[in-house]
Amino acid sequence: PTTIKPQQGSAPPKAKGGLPWIGQMFNFAANPYKFMEKVATTTGEIASFTMLGQNIVLLTGDEASEVFYRSTDDQLDQSAAYKLMTPIFGPGIIFDAPNDRKNEQLKMLMPALRMEAMRDHSHKIVQEVEDIIANWGDSGEIELVEFMKQLTINTASHCLLGREFRYELSEEFAHIYHDLEQGVNPLAYNFPNLPIPKFKRRDRARVRLQELVGAIVKKRTAQTEKPSDLFQSLIDMRYADGTKLDDNEITGMLIGAIFAGHHTSSGTAAWVLLELLKDRSLLRKTQAELDAILGENGEVSFNSVREMNILENVLKEVLRLHPPLIVLMRKVSQDLQFKNYTIKAGDMVWASPPVTHRLSRLFTNPLKFDPDRFSPERKEDKNLMAYQPFGGGRHKCSGNAFAMFQIKAIFAVLLRRYDFELMAPPETYVDDYTQMIVQPKSPSKIRYRMRKDHAHPMRG
Ligand code: HEM
Repeated sequence: PTTIKPQQGSAPPKAKGGLPWIGQMFNFAANPYKFMEKVATTTGEIASFTMLGQNIVLLTGDEASEVFYRSTDDQLDQSAAYKLMTPIFGPGIIFDAPNDRKNEQLKMLMPALRMEAMRDHSHKIVQEVEDIIANWGDSGEIELVEFMKQLTINTASHCLLGREFRYELSEEFAHIYHDLEQGVNPLAYNFPNLPIPKFKRRDRARVRLQELVGAIVKKRTAQTEKPSDLFQSLIDMRYADGTKLDDNEITGMLIGAIFAGHHTSSGTAAWVLLELLKDRSLLRKTQAELDAILGENGEVSFNSVREMNILENVLKEVLRLHPPLIVLMRKVSQDLQFKNYTIKAGDMVWASPPVTHRLSRLFTNPLKFDPDRFSPERKEDKNLMAYQPFGGGRHKCSGNAFAMFQIKAIFAVLLRRYDFELMAPPETYVDDYTQMIVQPKSPSKIRYRMRKDHAHPMRG
């Protein structure tokens, strides 16, 4: 007997090339961005290929991206793609929790990360920038990517973890964080508990961090004055059924926020400076805006940062051409339709922000670095399924306000104090697409020199 199946379309077109079973693994590994761009341009907005026996469907452009971002958790499962994080976040946390629980937890991160919360965070961020450049002197050199990693872990530990980890425990936290980061390894997809030294150190660090978190929860509970950081916000949070988060959950969610926000923010911040130094006239325009808003001794504050439109558009354009997450993944749990194609349960679907961001049908002259495309007249970011550096739909980045605010605040301080110069030919500063979180290729050396005349930003 024949059964009538629900709407069945054809299989998504297959990209050319690849080996049996191994599929496109080597092509992907050689340069993930180039590979995805080629697949999208030769095969189209929906294109399939295999890797290690897994069928993958790449969805690019605004219409296909909509399938990726607008599907429900029952249709597309986030957890499979992030499984390697489970030993680091901890059992029962975010991607290791059932969907309802996961979404409740993700929502709990929002109050401390939304724009209003920046009123509390802005002076901490400014202070961290001032502190890190306090001993810079008149001139010198930095490795830009390393510098931004240090600065953004300082701001994140200050605003999210709080003073205890930032000051009293800063050295121990640096070791713990290092060991947790070393535990991010593709091996953990299939063998999370392999008895290798890296994974043992990862697990010890996770246990120790939870002890420290537990001690701080106790101490803060006894305190009358409560700090304004993500940590405190999680202590105060309740599930819908009224239960509090336990130490394991608070620890895991703090780690989750730090991991989601650290290299994404540091790489983006590094690119903002590199793009400004590749176009000195844009740098001068950006500095002139800062000088106009801040005057002689103006304070970088919640309100002043929000007026920095040129800087904001530079940052948006950096995120268009250099989004740090170049591939987002979900596992298909129920067959999906797109136009006359069926994407099968069991397949993986991928979205690729940098590929979609370079489509000329969505962005005019897409390869050009042009912050004016976000001006009120052009608004090229208004199609939310086209401009997608923070993803989209229900799982759009909840740290985007924090990330944008903090990067603007960092440059509001840095560009007012110092002039910068590239130390190598501009075309040698490029994206390193072999990193899991894409950032400028190292070394990325930069020279700085103190600005003598805030009043005359048009100089040099
Ligand atoms: C999710 C990008 C900074 C927290 C995401 C996603 C993207 C993204 C593309 C979606 C992932 C997916 O759909 O699979 C970025 C970029 C950042 C940044 C480009 C910086 C420039 C941050 C910061 C935080 C953060 C600073 C927290 C402090 C999160 C969280 C999620 C997320 C919690 C998961 C949201 C959910 O699944 O509901 N981010 N992010 N991000 N991001 Fe960010």
